[in-house]
Amino acid sequence: MEKLVSLAKRRGFVFQSSEIYGGLGSVWDYGPLGVELKKNIKERWWRSMVHEREDIEGLDAAILMHPKVWEASGHVAGFTDPLVDCKHCKNRFRADDPRIKGTPGQPDGQCPACGTKGTLTAPRQFNLMFKTFMGPVEEQAAVIYMRPETAQGIYVNYLNVLQSSRQKVPFGIAQIGKAFRNEITPGNFIFRTREFEQMEMQFFVKPGSENDWFERWRTERMKWVEGLGVRPEKLRWHQHGKDELAHYAADAYDIQYEFPFGWQEFEGIHNRTDFDLKNHQQHSGKKLDYLDAATNERFIPYVVETSAGADRTTLVVLCDAYREEAVKGEDGADKEEQRVVLKLKPSLAPLKAAVFPLVNKDGMPEVARRIYDDLRRRLNVFFDDGGSIGRRYRRQDEAGTPFGITIDGQTSQDQTVTVRDRDTLKQVRVANGQLVEYLKEKLAT
Ligand code: GAP
Repeated sequence: MEKLVSLAKRRGFVFQSSEIYGGLGSVWDYGPLGVELKKNIKERWWRSMVHEREDIEGLDAAILMHPKVWEASGHVAGFTDPLVDCKHCKNRFRADDPRIKGTPGQPDGQCPACGTKGTLTAPRQFNLMFKTFMGPVEEQAAVIYMRPETAQGIYVNYLNVLQSSRQKVPFGIAQIGKAFRNEITPGNFIFRTREFEQMEMQFFVKPGSENDWFERWRTERMKWVEGLGVRPEKLRWHQHGKDELAHYAADAYDIQYEFPFGWQEFEGIHNRTDFDLKNHQQHSGKKLDYLDAATNERFIPYVVETSAGADRTTLVVLCDAYREEAVKGEDGADKEEQRVVLKLKPSLAPLKAAVFPLVNKDGMPEVARRIYDDLRRRLNVFFDDGGSIGRRYRRQDEAGTPFGITIDGQTSQDQTVTVRDRDTLKQVRVANGQLVEYLKEKLAT
């Protein structure tokens, strides 16, 4: 994991937030390559959920919502972790922290930070929502929350979307947006953070048909994940046991990936029943039921939710693409050398190609610049004329750039360039005039 974190910083994928001030705990910033990679993943999700389906609409709800939303949703009462405090060193831990020896609240309970015995409090429930104040007065009545999931913005807009889009149940609403959780044990880079992005879709169905839709969405989501190019043997399902289910869920399956720190969830499919809509109807006093015009039945729809983390999915893609391998003779020399390469699916790669003049003379830089300027209007490409060609390849391997285009002595004679494939290292000569077509075809997957 350290190697990936260091590559992510070196190549401009992910930086620690506020690094010059010593960093802000478990908050991360995406650099020039990271923002492209995450955007490509989000766009792929949006395309498959919203553009390619006629039964799903998009939404972008605000992060700040009426505080009653979180009472109705059960998050004020139930979105908690049991925590213990050390009265001596003032540190706070999850009650199930495996480093705690003895029983918190008892004389044998030992603080994992300062080692003092008997100073840990008995577990208390700690709410994970960030609070802030709206308006000029910082008082209890002005408290609002930073949303801990994007789903609620969908539920409170369900009727607006239904009526304005003229959809009929079954139908879905999809949204990508930030969520915030004051996690007590965050960590593992961008795996568990306090500010993160979710890609969520709530599918509204007739009661009684939820199990069928649940299975359909499980199949769809696994297909989508495999479409990211992730190795199938690194993916598996995990069904939540009764003690793992969130307060709103009747059934839940996680898609897990085998990260360097073990199997962990990065997407969940949840049967949320009519829990959320029923509670919003009750708390708001507004009718949220649906009239089925075909049967004249009225019902509150059940919801099947697909909930993916954009950051965690980005981490899956990065972990899966990271390889160290030996390659031979790319710098003219015949010796083997180690390379680090991100074997990203070309359509997800932040940079699609890098353009290199072989040497900085004989008109090569000028031709290379012209080719780069032409490509730049259609694809995200990079120009690099610094260092040996081998070192330039290595830098782009680490960035996951699928193609390297080299302008060499032959270019001025026959208007062709070499195109090097990141994964096979094979080079082919392609006519300048056909370069865009050639790359677009290869990048289509
Ligand atoms: N609306 C349902 C929901 O929020 P969840 O299992 O709590 O369900 C869904 O979260 C997804 O959101 C997770 O699978 C994960 O990818 C992402 N996620 C949740 N908490 C996160 C955190 N602290 N940091 C990064 N991603 C997180």
